[in-house]
Amino acid sequence: MSKKVTKVVLSERDLPKQWYNIQADLPKPLHPPLHPGTGQPIKPEDLEQIFPLNLVEQELSTERWIDIPDEVLDKLLLWRPTPLQRARNLEKYLQTPAKIYYKNEGVSPAGSHKPNTAIAQAYYNKQFGIKRLTTETGAGQWGSALALSCRLFGLECKVYMVRVSYEQKPYRRLMMQTWGAECVPSPSPDTEFGRQVLKENPASSGSLGIAISEAIEDCLNSENTRYSLGSVLNHVLLHQTIIGLEAQKQLAAIGEYPDIIAGCVGGGSNFGGLAFPFIRDKIYGREIEIYAVEPAACPTMTKGSFVYDFGDTAAKTPLLPMFSLGHGFIPAPIHAGGLRYHGTAPLISRLLLDGLITPRSYNQLETYEAGLIWARTEGYIPAPETNHAIALAIDEARKAKEEGKEKTILISWSGHGLLDLPGYDAYMQGKLTGYAMSDQEITASLKSLEGLPKPQV
Ligand SMILES: Cc1ncc(COP(=O)(O)O)c(C=O)c1O
Repeated sequence: MSKKVTKVVLSERDLPKQWYNIQADLPKPLHPPLHPGTGQPIKPEDLEQIFPLNLVEQELSTERWIDIPDEVLDKLLLWRPTPLQRARNLEKYLQTPAKIYYKNEGVSPAGSHKPNTAIAQAYYNKQFGIKRLTTETGAGQWGSALALSCRLFGLECKVYMVRVSYEQKPYRRLMMQTWGAECVPSPSPDTEFGRQVLKENPASSGSLGIAISEAIEDCLNSENTRYSLGSVLNHVLLHQTIIGLEAQKQLAAIGEYPDIIAGCVGGGSNFGGLAFPFIRDKIYGREIEIYAVEPAACPTMTKGSFVYDFGDTAAKTPLLPMFSLGHGFIPAPIHAGGLRYHGTAPLISRLLLDGLITPRSYNQLETYEAGLIWARTEGYIPAPETNHAIALAIDEARKAKEEGKEKTILISWSGHGLLDLPGYDAYMQGKLTGYAMSDQEITASLKSLEGLPKPQV
């Protein structure tokens, strides 16, 4: 048996007891979110119809460390700490001197990192006396994570699932229903906004922006209900930092520290969750290359602009300072449904502006090629979203080989793809398109931002 490390497993005792809030260490503070009506910075009470105030407090907090409540820790222990694994077979296949580590978030009951925040959000809503949560979901990973978490804390849950994914991924809908949630395809006839979209385009494949608008409308029109978002917001990324905090302990246990970190970015939560504790080290002088990877079909960070934009299509949310393609943007129906979002978390956007992270994009064919190499070497079948981080790891490992450098690479392995096999099927049958957004499409899409305030950079 090899003496080399293949996985690092922490004991339950080592589960981090606090989340790390990067707002405490940002070189420049975030631009404030703006009230869509007045254009003024929003006040906590402006958000209380949508989120419970205990989560609003977290959203605005600049405390560096925030205690994780015991009830949340108890539920996280169902699958955490997650293993840090080394992709030895992939390294061998690539004949690279690089070491490739991955934080396996696919071991949660829902199969991804999403329950890390879903559990916390269900808990804080319950504490606040809320009885029901509404949300949107793309690939179904977030919806299933929230359905699970609502079940564990005794809340009702309704999920608006982007129609293209609802049709491509019936098993995630069944997971949600198994955990007792209601799940409908969006645009749906259940909300005024959904009916309006369907009237204009009965065949609409939907988008996360539309589904968010529906979930918020439902929340505003229902009693004892709040809305829950699976990415983008500060408190969501905060809850995900448990990933990076565990990874730091695991790497320290084997005397390693990464030269390169990568994660895929939809709204930014798995990437931020892994990277933020390391970005703190970078802010204080450590040298690390940190890559945020997105689809070429939805190139928010590589081709979008830093603007104030709405988080949803119906323009109901506060205006967030972020890299965006415009809230009207409906991405091509790529299989990485969780990356089809027009914006990027304000925290990630700030770090991009400050040059602390580097954006990269890959098209769908490149990411499936990477995913297949991974599955055929490491065994685990990655989610289509995760394949973006893997594509980068493979490129960097090949570069390390060319340069003869022993780089240590760490990626966020955000979820498994066992329920995403139709995407692999389409790829293996040569039926997928390597969608990339053209400059004309980007210019047209950014038109929806005309007339909105501009953040000063
Ligand atoms: C497996 C997986 N990875 C990544 C993402 C992207 O989301 P985020 O950028 O918030 O991590 C999703 C979103 O649904 C997902 O399901």
